[in-house]
Amino acid sequence: MAILLDTKNRVFTLQTNHSMYQMKADRYGVLLHTLFGEKGSVFDYSYLITYADRGFSGNPYDVDDERTYSLDALPQEYPTYGSGDYRGSALKVCYPDGTTSCELRYVGYEVLEGKYSIPGLPAIYQMEENKADTLVITLEDTRKTFYVHLYYGVMEDLDIITRSVRIENHSDKPVFLENVQSTCVDYLHGEFDLHTFYGRHIKERNYQRAPIHHGVQSVGSTRGMSSHQYNPFLILSDKRTTETFGNCYGFSFLYSGDFLGSAEYDTYNQTRLLLGINPGNFNYRLDPGKTFCSPEVAMAYSGEGLEHLSHIFHRAFRNNLCRGKFKKARRPVLLNSWEGVYFDFNGEKLVQMARDAASMGIELFVMDDGWFGKRDKDVSGLGDWVVNEKKLGCTLEELSDQIHALGMQFGIWFEPEGISEDSDLYRAHPDWALQIPGKAPTRSRYQLVLDFSRQDVRDYIFGQMCQVLDSAKIEYLKWDFNRSITDIYSALLPADQQGEVTHRYILGLYDMLDKLGRRYPDMLIEGCCGGGGRFDAGMLYYSPQIWASDNTDAIERLSIQYGSSFCYPISAVGSHVSQCPNEQTGRYAPINTRATVAMSGTFGYELDVNHMTPVEKEVVKAQIFEFKKYYDLIQYGNYYRLTDPLKTKDYHCWQFAAEDRSEALLCIVALQIRPNGPGCWTRLRGLDPDGIYEIDGKEYPGDVLMRAGIPLPKATEEYESFRIYIRKKQA
Ligand code: GLA
Repeated sequence: MAILLDTKNRVFTLQTNHSMYQMKADRYGVLLHTLFGEKGSVFDYSYLITYADRGFSGNPYDVDDERTYSLDALPQEYPTYGSGDYRGSALKVCYPDGTTSCELRYVGYEVLEGKYSIPGLPAIYQMEENKADTLVITLEDTRKTFYVHLYYGVMEDLDIITRSVRIENHSDKPVFLENVQSTCVDYLHGEFDLHTFYGRHIKERNYQRAPIHHGVQSVGSTRGMSSHQYNPFLILSDKRTTETFGNCYGFSFLYSGDFLGSAEYDTYNQTRLLLGINPGNFNYRLDPGKTFCSPEVAMAYSGEGLEHLSHIFHRAFRNNLCRGKFKKARRPVLLNSWEGVYFDFNGEKLVQMARDAASMGIELFVMDDGWFGKRDKDVSGLGDWVVNEKKLGCTLEELSDQIHALGMQFGIWFEPEGISEDSDLYRAHPDWALQIPGKAPTRSRYQLVLDFSRQDVRDYIFGQMCQVLDSAKIEYLKWDFNRSITDIYSALLPADQQGEVTHRYILGLYDMLDKLGRRYPDMLIEGCCGGGGRFDAGMLYYSPQIWASDNTDAIERLSIQYGSSFCYPISAVGSHVSQCPNEQTGRYAPINTRATVAMSGTFGYELDVNHMTPVEKEVVKAQIFEFKKYYDLIQYGNYYRLTDPLKTKDYHCWQFAAEDRSEALLCIVALQIRPNGPGCWTRLRGLDPDGIYEIDGKEYPGDVLMRAGIPLPKATEEYESFRIYIRKKQA
C-alpha cells in the first residue's frame, strides 16, 4: 500500500518505490510537513522538528502559553497568509469582512483508490499497469468558512507524487481567493541549490543552477502563458549533487498560464518550496457552495542525481501525461513550410515542395501561417479562419488531395487565440478581444488576444476550425499562440471577477484543446507559442509534442534542448533541420549536424527543399532512413546528458540507451576545432556492465565503456557531428 496511515498519531506517510513523503496533524490540528526524500522506515519523523521560543514569532491562540510553538518556524503542509507565519504562504483568502488572516486546522482524511483527476485541468493519470492511490486531507479555517482539501496522488511505480488543492466555500457569503499555491514543501535542514530554466523568445530554457541564499528566490510568469522567460519546472538539490550522484527534488507544474515557483531560505536555515498559479493576476471569487481546484504539481525525488530525476519525469510524462493515438503511434517526419517560404506561397509552390519532400522520404507536409483570410504578412487576418483559395489557387481539399497523391500526409497551422484588428472577426466583435474599455490595448506582433475565457468566443472559433478541418483530409494541426497577454478584462464578467480572467482563459484553452482532440482522435496536434513559450507539462496533456523554439540554429539548439531535457522527454521536443546560413543567427552548420540535433526530438525539416542540391537531397534521404531505424531508441530510450553545452568547449555529447540496454546511440557535436589539440573522450551510460558491445565492428565490455569511456572522433570541419551506434552482442 502506498499510503500508510497511523490514525492514532495522525501521521500520513506516502510511499513510492524509492521515495517517501510524510505529514502529521499535530495536537493542535496543524498539518505539519515532516519528510520528503528517500524511502526508509515508516516512522514519525516529526521528532526532527525544533521547538524553541522564537522572539517576534507569535503563538496561535489555541496553544496557550506554549511560547515554543510558532507557525513562523514550523514546517507546514499548507501554510496560510495571516497566520503568524511570515514566510511565503500557500493560501491567501479575503473574507467577506475584508480581512485576510487565516488559520487552518485538520478535519479528517480519506483514501481513494487510484489516482484522482481534476475537472477541466491536466493531471497525471494511471494506466492499468500502474499502482496508484489518492490521499485527501481536509483542513478547515478556524473561522469555519471553507474547507481545503489537499489531494495527493501516489504513483508508486512511477516514483511520482502529485498534489492539487480543492477549496470549498461552505459559508453563505463569497470569499476571494487571492493566492492558491498547488504545493508547498518545507525542508527542515539542508543547504540547497535551486535549478531553474530561464530564457526569452528564440532562446528558451537555459539551465541555471545557483545556491539558495537567505530570502526568497523565485521564477514565474504573469504573461498569461507559462512563457519563454521562465519554465514551470524547478529542482532543488544538495550542493554536491551531480548528474549521477546525490539528492534532488523536481517540481513540475501542469499548467500553461501564469505561475510562480519560489524557494525561500528562511532565517532558521529552513527551506520552503512553493509552486502554483502566480497570484499577480489572480483573484478568484468563490461563491457559497462552490469549489475551486488548483492545477496539479508533479513531484519526484531522486537519490541518484539529476539524470535519474529526469528519467522519472520523462517516463511519467510519456506514458501517464501525454494522451491519444500519438502517445504510442509513430510520428511522421515532417516538412514545415515556415522558414522555407514564410507567407510567400501558393498551392503550386507547396505541392512542388511536397513533391521533393516525398522523394526524400518525408512523410507529412505542414502548411504553416498564411493560408487563411488576408494574411500575406503578420499584420492582418488572424481570426478569419477561412481558406484563401485565391492565394492557394485551389480549395484546401484539392491541395490536400495533391499532397496525399504524393504519398504524404497533410497538416495545417492555426493560431486560434489570436485576433488581428485588421480582420472581419475584429470588425464584427471588437469586444471578443481582451482589452479594457477606455484604454488603448498593448499590441504585440500587431495582434490582440481573443477572450478564451468566454464560451461563446471559443464556440465560434471551434466552429470555424472544424469547418476547415472537415473540408479536407488533415492529419496534423499546429496550435500556435504568438504574444503575451495584456489588458486583462473580460466583457462578460463583473468587476469583482476580473481577477479570474487569466485562469478562466487557460481553462478555456484546455477545454478547446480537449474538444479538438476528442473530435479528431487521429490528428496529431503540435503545441507552439512563438516556439517554446508554452513548453510545459500542461500542454503535453493535449499535444504530445511542442515546437521547442523558433531558434532553429543547431548550435543554439544544443543548450535549448539540453535545458528542456531536465524535465521533458525527447518525444515532446519539436525540432527541425533548417537552412544555412541560419535564419536567426546567420551561422553555418553542416547538414549532418543539423540532423544530429533535430533527431534528438520529433524530427522534421523546415526549409525550401526545392532549393536543395541533388547531393543534399541524397543526404536527407539517408538521414530519414537512419532516424527511422533509431526511432524507438530515441523516442522511448533513456536520455543521458554527457556534457553541459554551456560549460564544455570542445565537444557536446549526449546519448540514448534502450531500457533493456541492448543498444545505444552516442551523439557528438564538435564546438570548436583545435589543431593539434588534446585528446577528448567521453564515458557512456546506461549500458549493461556485463555485456559486450560492438562499435564499428570492434568489441568492448559495457563496464569499460562506462568506466573508461571512448575517445571522440576528431572533427575536421567546424561544428562537425557524429552519431555512433552501439549494439550489445547477443549472449
Ligand atoms: C510562430 C511559430 C513559427 C511560425 C510562425 C508563423 O513564430 O513559432 O513556427 O509558425 O509563428 O507566424
